[in-house]
Amino acid sequence: MEKMWSGRFAQDASTLLEQFNASIMFDQKLYREDIEGSIAHAQMLAHQGILTAEELSSIESGMAQVLNEIESGAFEWKIGDEDLHMAIEKRLTQIIGDAGKKLHTARSRNDQVALDFRRYVLRKNREIVEQIKSLMKVIVDISRDHTSTLIPGMTHLQHAQPINFAFHLLAYAAMFKRDIERFESSAARNNISPIGCAALAGTPHNINREMTAKTLGFDSVSINCLDTVSDRDFALEILFNISTLMMHISRLSEEIILWSSYEFRFVELSDAYSTGSSIMPQKKNPDVPELLRGKTGRVYGNLIGLLTVMKGLPLAYNKDTQEDKEGVFDSVSTAEISLEILREALRTMTVKPQNMARACKLGHLSATDLADYLVEHCDVPFREAHHTTGRAVARAEQLGIDLSEIEYAELHAIDERIKEDVCSYLSIVHSMNARTSQGGTAEVRTLEQILYFDHFLKDVK
Ligand code: ARG
Repeated sequence: MEKMWSGRFAQDASTLLEQFNASIMFDQKLYREDIEGSIAHAQMLAHQGILTAEELSSIESGMAQVLNEIESGAFEWKIGDEDLHMAIEKRLTQIIGDAGKKLHTARSRNDQVALDFRRYVLRKNREIVEQIKSLMKVIVDISRDHTSTLIPGMTHLQHAQPINFAFHLLAYAAMFKRDIERFESSAARNNISPIGCAALAGTPHNINREMTAKTLGFDSVSINCLDTVSDRDFALEILFNISTLMMHISRLSEEIILWSSYEFRFVELSDAYSTGSSIMPQKKNPDVPELLRGKTGRVYGNLIGLLTVMKGLPLAYNKDTQEDKEGVFDSVSTAEISLEILREALRTMTVKPQNMARACKLGHLSATDLADYLVEHCDVPFREAHHTTGRAVARAEQLGIDLSEIEYAELHAIDERIKEDVCSYLSIVHSMNARTSQGGTAEVRTLEQILYFDHFLKDVK
């Protein structure tokens, strides 16, 4: 097959070279961005008098046919065409003849691929934001039902202080909101048009970069062409944003896995989002959160992969950057399916408040409240209160009960400044509701957080 660039070559490319060099197997995903970019470029060329009105209109109608062929599956993607840019231009020229050969005026595949890939990444930044919002909505909806459902709040995976289940879930809403902000700020920062940079140095043709930028919805035009054709920061940003998102998803997944175990039994995943064992008939496994946790590894790999590809590249375009796409495509599709399945698994999950309440009877969750009581009501310095509470905990252990169940007389025997009202301070519900400081777990504060996220998600159906 004759190559578009074969003018200076005496020999045909080897089949092995064709296979090794081609990106058409994966970059065909960018066909929409490529065709829209070509049409915008042609419109600008016509506006500048570089193409005639007839040439433009045949490029536009030819491209409409190419688009139609691609979307109907009739388009033949051939490895010998190397990449989608050349495959599409070649097919356009077959359809419309000589006008097709003028399309590449004042353009190079270097600015063309920078344009297509950047626009794809910008679009995915926005689509992923919508998906995260939809996941957050499910989280906030579950939270609404559980502002008074008590669970042990933990540090070091040890029972620490009682919190409500909504407060725990809303911590993830806060993480996902930050993720959204990261995707949005990347999209805003990178909304800059590369087209018109040509191979590396710009072009002598009288082009109008502002015009193509405007047609394609960019905020502005890039400042330095040499940078623009070799810049892949925008791709690294989405890989990092997805890595952080998946890290959050993985942490939530880890908790769902723990909560589903017999040791916790705080939640039960629905049958539709659980799997069985091929040998142990009784089993119901949390494969979904486990895979979400596992898939986090591959998106980290994609980030490190592209950082490594980029680190030694001299300016400007190098073929190494063709390696930018597959990792991004993989991370994007991993994020998309992960967000969707996590949302559904959560939406259909059963919460078990009784098991949570039972767990709150373990580990003396209100111990800090006894220390706080001694400080506030008995004028004991905190260090001393801490020590006295430690003795009360030891006594409760001796009696085989939780501190929240201890009798007043026992506490009075430890420190006679303790008064009878102490017991109400040690109840788990009281302990949770006592934490009224801003951002705390008290039900009133949790309700504020729900309102905050409701406002943030007001446009989500
Ligand atoms: N397929 C190439 C890529 O994805 C397109 C740009 C090729 N440019 C070049 N000068 N060989 O990076």
